[in-house]
Amino acid sequence: MEFIDLKAQYRALKQEIDSNINRVLENADFIMGKQVAEFEKKLADYVGVNYAVGCSSGTDALQLIYMAYGIGRGDAVFCPDMTFVASVEPAFMLGAEPVFCDIDPVSYNICPDSLERQIKAVCAAGKLRPRAVVAVDFIGNPADYDRLREITDRYGLLLIEDAAQGMGASYRTRKCGALGDIGATSFFPSKPLGCYGDGGAVFTDSEEMNELLKSLRVHGKGSSKYDNVRVGMNARLDTIQAAVMLPKLSRLEEEIAKRQEIAARYDEALRDKFVVPKIGDGTVSAYAQYALLAEDRKQRDEVRAKLQEAGIPTIIYYPNPMHCMKVFADCFTGEETFDNTVSYADRTFSIPFSAYLTGDDQERIIEVLRTV
Ligand SMILES: Cc1ncc(COP(=O)(O)O)c(C=O)c1O
Repeated sequence: MEFIDLKAQYRALKQEIDSNINRVLENADFIMGKQVAEFEKKLADYVGVNYAVGCSSGTDALQLIYMAYGIGRGDAVFCPDMTFVASVEPAFMLGAEPVFCDIDPVSYNICPDSLERQIKAVCAAGKLRPRAVVAVDFIGNPADYDRLREITDRYGLLLIEDAAQGMGASYRTRKCGALGDIGATSFFPSKPLGCYGDGGAVFTDSEEMNELLKSLRVHGKGSSKYDNVRVGMNARLDTIQAAVMLPKLSRLEEEIAKRQEIAARYDEALRDKFVVPKIGDGTVSAYAQYALLAEDRKQRDEVRAKLQEAGIPTIIYYPNPMHCMKVFADCFTGEETFDNTVSYADRTFSIPFSAYLTGDDQERIIEVLRTV
């Protein structure tokens, strides 16, 4: 059984994907070909922003944002303790310091109370300048943007949305990607909107920011790529990846609807045995993963072993809180003990999930989970 059935998705979209790729091959239009602009326009319309800037990965999307805002030495960037390292790795590389915040025990997203405590602790310590908050739509579930916005406004901080796992999700009336001052996403193959390699995008409403990002993704180009006006990156989105994602994007809403049905079936069948995901009112999750919580690490590991015996794959997103990682060992942690994140990391496991999970496979997974 596949954990995320990308092969089934390919079979469903094969004709369109193959013919789109062939068009790129026939036109030898590999770098910034016309499908890139077409995809950017359609993606911006879908997310509900003025501009989507395609780029080479989600990590590079975040790096472009940090570079565009000049985030670096002396800056504190606040981030949930439970995320993928790339949420803050580029800021750290640019000299800023990640300051981790505990997660909310229900949504598993950054806890606004912990964020506020950490902002106050950084101010009191007086060594770093609070600069930005990275809100991660963790495993596809949008963060609490109303509360986060209130805090970032109060402290004059930039609100960056890391929507790498959230394409297709929404919060109130807006889609993920459009919920911060600026947003980033990833098209890593297993993401809700994935390509066939690496890819990413930045979302902005500002024409000026759009121009700056387009310069930064091509070596800081000015009027041409051989007129360099700033330090930039080679961070373009390949034409082939845009060609692959055009048909996937037009199917995304349908897939998100299917994901709700599949998640509802898991919820119903498993809620008396495990903690099932809780999605807030007015919020639609993209269910980048369907994560369950066991009672403790021991029970979690036993359940995973039983599933493995039955040929059912599971993955832990993620086993290590950020504050425990060696790479961040010297970062400021204030007085936080990150209890919710530690408990989540010990208890979480994700089970097979995609819009293409068959009813029979889902039945089997439920059956095994109910008997362990
Ligand atoms: C929350 C989060 N941020 C950033 C990234 C980085 O994206 P990419 O792998 O495309 O560089 C990922 C990808 O796993 C992610 O899950």
